[in-house]
Amino acid sequence: MFTLAHLSDPHLAPLPQPRWSELLNKRITGYINWRRNRRFVHDAEVLRKIVADLKAQAPDHIAVTGDLANISLPEEFVRGREWLERLGTPQQVSLVPGNHDAYVTGGLEDAETEWAAYMCDDQDDDGFPYLRRRGPLALIGLSTAVPTAWGMATGRLGPMQIEALAGLLEELKAEPLFRVVLIHHPPVSKAKPHKLLADADALKRVLARHGVELLLHGHDHLQMLNWLDGPGGARVPAVGVPSASISPRVSRNAAGYNLYRIGGAPGAWTCEMIARGMDESGAVIERNRIMLG
Ligand SMILES: [Fe+2]
Repeated sequence: MFTLAHLSDPHLAPLPQPRWSELLNKRITGYINWRRNRRFVHDAEVLRKIVADLKAQAPDHIAVTGDLANISLPEEFVRGREWLERLGTPQQVSLVPGNHDAYVTGGLEDAETEWAAYMCDDQDDDGFPYLRRRGPLALIGLSTAVPTAWGMATGRLGPMQIEALAGLLEELKAEPLFRVVLIHHPPVSKAKPHKLLADADALKRVLARHGVELLLHGHDHLQMLNWLDGPGGARVPAVGVPSASISPRVSRNAAGYNLYRIGGAPGAWTCEMIARGMDESGAVIERNRIMLG
């Protein structure tokens, strides 16, 4: 049995104090939003308790699907690396970036510098998609993080990454691995258009043709489960996890993370999902448990 933990959207708090020169772009709206709202939502102590509970479960690997940052200040990427290092080694933790990690042009370059060891393949090569083999798992990391216009939080894979994903999944057919896609934006979402994955249909076509055993995403800050079409009538569970830092004092969708207990063998995999999260008293408890396959 292999245990994979998944957390997302920690939106690390507190926000470093920006210089005025760093706010002369889209960051200004994000900064005002942080001061007015989000600093009361994303709580460092809540995140610390979630991570402590996750570590107590002793997972074999941890997947993080982006949005460590808030407005892509250079200091946020340094703090993001320090948080990742406390979470685990690059051997233990796989990361993909989110839209807040590419909030402005240049943000993603800083992320790729500071977080490179957590976003590379087994040969230490960067770029997306990456492939990491851990136990029976093939972890496939995708990046939907692109700078967008003011007020937008859309994501985009782009045709090159989608084509490379199809090629990678074709090659992986020869190996007996449980394939897990890590992506920030969900392929299916009820969010407003300015938050969606622009090329979700192209991704779904690749998954319908090649299949994977599991897709994990963040972005909507909600526990979500959607079933996507796979090849030959198979279905692919696309599972979203709440933000790992939302205080139960301000939201019914308080901080949580998911565990996956993966067993079996090719053609007969088993996968149990256990959702854990913070209750109103501040304790981290089991919320839900279901078999996905
Ligand atoms: Fe987020």
